[in-house]
Amino acid sequence: AIALAGCSRDAGKQVGQVTVGFSQVGAESEWRTANTASVKSALVAPGFDLKFSDAQQKQENQIKALRSFIAQRVDVIAFSPVVESGWEPVLREAKAAGIPVVLTDRAVKVSDASLYASLIGSDFIEEGRKAGRWLLQDSTGKPGPIRVVELQGTVGSAPAIDRMKGFHEVIDTDPRFKLVRSQSGDFTRAKGKEVMEAFLKAEGGHIDVLFAHNDDMAIGAIQAIEEAGLTPGKDIRIVSIDGVRGAFEAMKAGKLNATIECNPLFGAQLAQLIRDVHAGKPVPKRIVVEEGVFTQDQAAAALPGRKY
Ligand code: AHR
Repeated sequence: AIALAGCSRDAGKQVGQVTVGFSQVGAESEWRTANTASVKSALVAPGFDLKFSDAQQKQENQIKALRSFIAQRVDVIAFSPVVESGWEPVLREAKAAGIPVVLTDRAVKVSDASLYASLIGSDFIEEGRKAGRWLLQDSTGKPGPIRVVELQGTVGSAPAIDRMKGFHEVIDTDPRFKLVRSQSGDFTRAKGKEVMEAFLKAEGGHIDVLFAHNDDMAIGAIQAIEEAGLTPGKDIRIVSIDGVRGAFEAMKAGKLNATIECNPLFGAQLAQLIRDVHAGKPVPKRIVVEEGVFTQDQAAAALPGRKY
């Protein structure tokens, strides 16, 4: 069952408060935990009445939550869509009810852009390109073939589709790189480990590089690599995305080579966006959050300052 907090309409609502229905993807990664904390700290605050729902990585749960928010006639709906497709009917229902929708973190594929007011989150294609550029640079002078495996995020999700696109756009320009395996690890550590074990078995350990669409899958894969008697970060170079503390710890230990930052801490920006949308002010259709690239040599110095 999905958890819905604060269900009755206007229960405990104060004058001037904006009632927000927020549907989160789940709790699949360190990144997601940090994102939920950031959103809650900004919206469990004076001026807002937050109804939070956890979709446990299932689109059907998210659609149910959105319909429940519409039935409760919240002022604004915000959600991070698990996957890109299949949103049109429920978004039309929200529009017909006069409830504006703000997308957070992930995009949707719809034929009518007026079905949502704005999308705040990262540029996932650029994150994939950054991972590819790091790999090109780190491979200077290395002979081919360089055998690459890829751990994809959730099938059909915007970050999985876009990171794959951006990464391949860069590495496909260099004939030394050979993608030998690519499969989803659903953005979780457990799945990342399981799929990496299968890759290692199938390739007889002949893997030079792992590109993981998030740090959690990379951390799971590191365990699989060690259990196979190989040295992560050396025998197999690893680049992943998010920049969570666990990734910095792995880089400090020499087990992960680089992480591309994906910033989950946009709660305060989201709160302002929701206020503006509710007030009927014009808002940008797309707000891209700022992020960087970190390598092993920067890990020890950067770790104490990491906020997620
Ligand atoms: O949509 C952002 C992605 O979702 C993060 O990179 C990943 O860790 C999370 O599960």
